Amino acid sequence: MENRSHDLFQQALKLMPGGVNSPVRAFGAVGGEPFFTARAEGPYLYTEDGQRLVDYVSSWGPLILGHAHPAVVKAVAEAAAHGTSFGTPSRLEVELAARIKAAMPAVERMRMVNSGTEATMSAIRLARAATGRRLVVKFIGSYHGHVDALMVSAGSGMATLGIPSSPGVTAGAVADTVAVPFNDLGAVEALFERRGAEVAAVIVEPVAGNMGVVPGRDGFLSGLRRITEQHSALLIFDEVITGFRLAYGGAQSLVGVRPDLTCLGKVIGGGLPVGAYGGRSDLMALVAPEGAVYQAGTLSGNPLAMAAGIAALDQLAVAGTYQRLEEMAAMLADGLAAAAAAAGVALTVNRAWTIFTPFFSAGPVEDFAAAQAASREHYARYFHGMLKGGVFVAPSQFEAVFVSLAHSPELIGETVALSRRVMAELAEGRH
Ligand SMILES: Cc1ncc(COP(=O)(O)O)c(C=O)c1O
Repeated sequence: MENRSHDLFQQALKLMPGGVNSPVRAFGAVGGEPFFTARAEGPYLYTEDGQRLVDYVSSWGPLILGHAHPAVVKAVAEAAAHGTSFGTPSRLEVELAARIKAAMPAVERMRMVNSGTEATMSAIRLARAATGRRLVVKFIGSYHGHVDALMVSAGSGMATLGIPSSPGVTAGAVADTVAVPFNDLGAVEALFERRGAEVAAVIVEPVAGNMGVVPGRDGFLSGLRRITEQHSALLIFDEVITGFRLAYGGAQSLVGVRPDLTCLGKVIGGGLPVGAYGGRSDLMALVAPEGAVYQAGTLSGNPLAMAAGIAALDQLAVAGTYQRLEEMAAMLADGLAAAAAAAGVALTVNRAWTIFTPFFSAGPVEDFAAAQAASREHYARYFHGMLKGGVFVAPSQFEAVFVSLAHSPELIGETVALSRRVMAELAEGRH
């Protein structure tokens, strides 16, 4: 096999920090060098070295239809032929927004942005403006993008790299952010008892995805709704991962809690750079130009991204889609659990509808501290064993497995079979 990835990585290291444009791609958490992808189609990545990999990372969530889905490719090509950016309103923005609102009634009006980070940053600014309060409550191990104010006890790459926060984020930028343990309603109640009148918003991933997948306990999200309402604070659901991923209507449609604001990204862009934030119409009325809360974007509502999002959502709206996705996710999650049990490897698989994480620990994993107790060494060995066998799972313990509609039960069966071998080798200490 050729070794073009290695050569490209050497060049990349001279051009980009860590040779990458987003930290977790560098394989720092599992060791070794990243492969470079030349192209992708359906459930597969094709590397520069000529290897075909079954992909369970799905570009970290967006590619729920698989790679290069014909409907998305066609929509993007057609849009591109009509111009790649207008700097004026366009029909496609209205069409995507209407679909999002129909799927998520709590998102009465919205604003398109270019990433999940922009969405959460803007939602927090709006929440502070709407309430006239400063404090933002987030959960330990959650990640909401690299927004300065939210770089406190972040998950994802932050957890992976073991960086509690980040140099360059000033004490002032996080002075009004409080982090409490995920799934600990008592801690939230205690905080509100002391400082409830100062809290602008609670921001939460309704199913945590950045400490690995950790679902909210029964009553956790409804409890947050009750407490925020009692104290006239806003509840923000960060559905950047879960929106149109767990179900068409996102986590909020499954847990029956209506947030004041919702942040979206990933799936709604069909694989192109998009985010959105939206919610109560009276709150969105505060955003410029209707209101005074300034927020803007040169490429926001970009026609290529809107076209890709519309095409993706139209595929997802077909009846039975999420059931099929969940069946495949369950098959893989259960298969991994059984493979580990057969090999005598401690594994706790946390699945929430269509996403899951295999934690290398006896569990249960219900918060960040428990997630951190999982064996990163076992995960790294599992990761490399799978990669050698032609399967790409996230290069970190603290991420989700993203099955796509391009996968098939047959392919998942093959992945489970490979997992059995890798788990057995892991138990024997052979990886
Ligand atoms: C829950 C959540 N919110 C926000 C973000 C930030 O999104 P982006 O990477 O598009 O800026 C992420 C990214 O992974 C995320 O998982």
